[in-house]
Amino acid sequence: MEYDVCALDDIADGGKKVAKLAGTRVLLLRAGDEVFAVRNTCPHMKVPLSVGKFDGTHIQCRLHGSRYDVRSGQRDKKAWMASGMGEATLQTYPLTLRDGRVFVEL
Ligand code: FES
Repeated sequence: MEYDVCALDDIADGGKKVAKLAGTRVLLLRAGDEVFAVRNTCPHMKVPLSVGKFDGTHIQCRLHGSRYDVRSGQRDKKAWMASGMGEATLQTYPLTLRDGRVFVEL
């Protein structure tokens, strides 16, 4: 199902916004004219990723430092090999920009 979440202008460039869609907290991340949607929960210990650092392509978990590619959801390989935490994937969601609005599919 597709959700009309917000206006693109509601998310600052480089910024984040959390939306609750059908009981799921979705983290929206904006890098210029692109917006990404991921689950707002670190796969490692389920802490919110909204408090992590976003660099335009990756979100870094504040608790143990895992970095997830917001386009694919893949955990940064070097980081997970060094940490011993193993491979994990962050849930991503299809997102469409239309008429200045952000639509997310769950
Ligand atoms: S809780 Fe996110 S890396 Fe451990």
